[in-house]
Amino acid sequence: MNEYNPNFQLDANGQLRHFLSIEGLDREMLTRIMDTAESFAGVVADQPVKKVPLLRGKTIVNLFFENSTRTRTTFELAAKRLSADVLNINIETSATAKGESLLDTVRNIQAMHVDMFVIRHGESGAPYFIARHVEPHVSVINAGDGRHSHPTQAMLDMFTIRRYKRTFEGLRVAIVGDILHSRVARSQILALNTLGVAQVRVIGPRTLLPVDAESLGVRVFHKMDEGLQDVDVVIMLRLQKERMRGAMLPSEHEYFSCFGLTRERLRFARPDAIVMHPGPINRGVEIESRVADGDSSVILQQVGYGIAIRMAIMTMAMHSKARSKAS
Ligand code: NCD
Repeated sequence: MNEYNPNFQLDANGQLRHFLSIEGLDREMLTRIMDTAESFAGVVADQPVKKVPLLRGKTIVNLFFENSTRTRTTFELAAKRLSADVLNINIETSATAKGESLLDTVRNIQAMHVDMFVIRHGESGAPYFIARHVEPHVSVINAGDGRHSHPTQAMLDMFTIRRYKRTFEGLRVAIVGDILHSRVARSQILALNTLGVAQVRVIGPRTLLPVDAESLGVRVFHKMDEGLQDVDVVIMLRLQKERMRGAMLPSEHEYFSCFGLTRERLRFARPDAIVMHPGPINRGVEIESRVADGDSSVILQQVGYGIAIRMAIMTMAMHSKARSKAS
């Protein structure tokens, strides 16, 4: 399942056919996704009838092999607001729990005339594997695979940054915490560097940073006070206890005392810095409530922007196929 081909997600015209990773997408494509999301942001926030008919008659299946609240529900709402029919299948209630193989599950659902799969899986590469085996008219969107990638989350984070900071140029962005286990951080770093921010920093204990962190194109800090100095954006990550093996941390209390985001620590950042978190947040572990609920926090806004970004990505993937069929 580990064969990642970054170009595989684009069709012959360079348009999105699947959406599997930020890798292989250029600045123009990331900008186009955000511009498209911008046009949907008004639909989902301001219109009395929050629907457009762009994917009417299409069937989208959310196939989630791992738990999720925000990601699954925002994908579902995005599909509904595009007028698609949407089906949610969770591993607990699916046949895979009865021993059916991943591919048989996918093929059976595909036989029900499905147009798009949104996949979350605990194993890195699973959405690629599925994308290689679906019929040509079916798109696959990665909603998080193992520790590898979570590209729609990264795009909604980029969209949030652009909404608050207008441009990526000159920005210093710090990503704090459990980088090692975070598919979100990996996708964010790729997206931030592609969009041309001035500096991406990661801050965390050595045990929660990849050994070759610098090779990702970041500056590494082990102290909050130094890493947060003059940053424009602070992205906090959840401590992913379910992905840790062995004792990587002394205690949650000690973690908070070294790397927790407090109001006092946030003063090292620029006065207009925004604080982000992909959720779910652990209050008092990586972030204190005064910051999570404070004026700098845009954590709930991120959730809302997730709908517009997912609408954009789904529409772009579906329309690239319509075009290639017509040509
Ligand atoms: C993230 C995930 O599942 O990768 N959350 C999310 O999608 N909203 C991050 C996390 O679980 O910590």
